[in-house]
Amino acid sequence: MKLSDWLRNARVVAVVDNQFGDTGKGKFVDLLAERSDVIARGTGGANAGHTVCCNGRRFSFHLLPSGILCDADGKVNIIGNGVAVDPRVVCHELDTLADMGMSTNGLRVAYNAKLVLPQHLLLDRIRERAMAGGQLGTTGRGIGPAYRDHYDRLGLTVNDLLNVDVFVCKLRRNLEEKVSILRHVDSDLVRHILSHDHLGSGRFYHSTHVIDEDAIVQEYRRFGLRLAHYVTDTDALIRQAVYDDKRVLLEGAQGILLSIDHGTYPYVTSSDCSIHGLARGVGLPQRVVDRTLGITKAFYMTRVGEGPFPTELGRERSAAWCRDATATREAETAQQPDINDADELRQGMAIRQRGDEYGTTTMRPRRTGWLDVPFLRYAMNIHGCDMALTMIDVLDDCDVIKVCTKYFYQGPDYYIGDRLLQAGTILTTAYPDVNVLTHCQPHYKHLPGWNTLTRDIRKREHLPLNLQNLIAALIQWTSANIVAISVGPDREQTILQ
Ligand code: IMP
Ligand code: MG
Repeated sequence: MKLSDWLRNARVVAVVDNQFGDTGKGKFVDLLAERSDVIARGTGGANAGHTVCCNGRRFSFHLLPSGILCDADGKVNIIGNGVAVDPRVVCHELDTLADMGMSTNGLRVAYNAKLVLPQHLLLDRIRERAMAGGQLGTTGRGIGPAYRDHYDRLGLTVNDLLNVDVFVCKLRRNLEEKVSILRHVDSDLVRHILSHDHLGSGRFYHSTHVIDEDAIVQEYRRFGLRLAHYVTDTDALIRQAVYDDKRVLLEGAQGILLSIDHGTYPYVTSSDCSIHGLARGVGLPQRVVDRTLGITKAFYMTRVGEGPFPTELGRERSAAWCRDATATREAETAQQPDINDADELRQGMAIRQRGDEYGTTTMRPRRTGWLDVPFLRYAMNIHGCDMALTMIDVLDDCDVIKVCTKYFYQGPDYYIGDRLLQAGTILTTAYPDVNVLTHCQPHYKHLPGWNTLTRDIRKREHLPLNLQNLIAALIQWTSANIVAISVGPDREQTILQ
């Protein structure tokens, strides 16, 4: 179906991610922002990284909605109540846009969004260093500890930045608990982490109290003053927009397989980045969402950080390499890997280079593997069938495309509820359970590549035949309704018909 037909009569449209994030949501948000009056984020925080290419310029945002580039004609861009807001990052992104002469007048930040504070970044980073073998590979942006405080009823909100006395009181209570934990941690490590520029370059370190409360109050009062102009009741604003029949665009962050509720727990982020969490995080009931577009990378996939990834090219070797601090973009370029290399690790490396698969937030190489249909079927159970395929051009000169259509479970007897999995059990839909996934042997279909440059193609019928066949096979395996195909990073490099 064509995107324009799919959008007919749609008021509230959501763009979500069917995989582990980084599928190219930003581009579709940017594309759909043009037709929208309100654009809103509802989950995640500065762990997200949205890259949007517009007129040959590349923009990366962590917290501002990607629609901010369309800040014109009274469009409203919302950071919703479900977002973990690091005010330092918001202020920094606002400065960057101001320096480029771009307007941000349409930005609105939920007064009840969750506040990320220095102690959250500190605890996130301590946990990653101290938990030998238990690392999650987080982005170190304090997301887990901030949401944890929220559920622990110790959290602060953006609104607290506007009311100094309340801020001081809540901060004190919050720090009391944190400092009692931090006293058991190696003080050199604490001091070292606090010296990072994301943490005020040491400004918040206190030799006796560990964290300097006054320094936080001072700095965050400044952020409050800077942001006050944008803070409002965005839940009410967006409800009114829906009531007035305006066009609303919901912008997902991360991907469903990283969702705290639907992902490969515990290797997930700390918000529900599925359509459910997104609607809730902007204060809307999910039933008002008219269309959900699940962005899906094809015909490969990526994952950043730890956690199971059955189709990873080079398996454990790849995971170990991507974890290694010396595995940089430059180091990989120097190796000149070939996209048809018989060594899977090197083939994965070549795909990573073509797709520029290095984290927007952390610059880490993204682990790379083949498209996993059992995962996709799982995602579609929640997000529905409508999707856009992205990054097609990355595999333009790959000779053989492998697609995983099912798994053979090869582990010990294991119960998933009332279903017993035994060695040899076939799974056509994934369970997001680490004990299952680590024992799944992918079964691949081998299909011939298309060996044609696709970046300039704008109509489906002009796609090379092998690629058309591959897309037809994907539709047959999953019942996907593909409404757009992305063949390059630019807005124009999209097949809409
Ligand atoms: P956290 O969100 O920083 O707590 O990290 C938890 C996990 O989610 C780690 O594996 C991260 O690499 C992953 N993650 C968080 N945000 C993103 C994203 O925007 N893209 C891809 N992976 C992400
Ligand atoms: Mg991203």
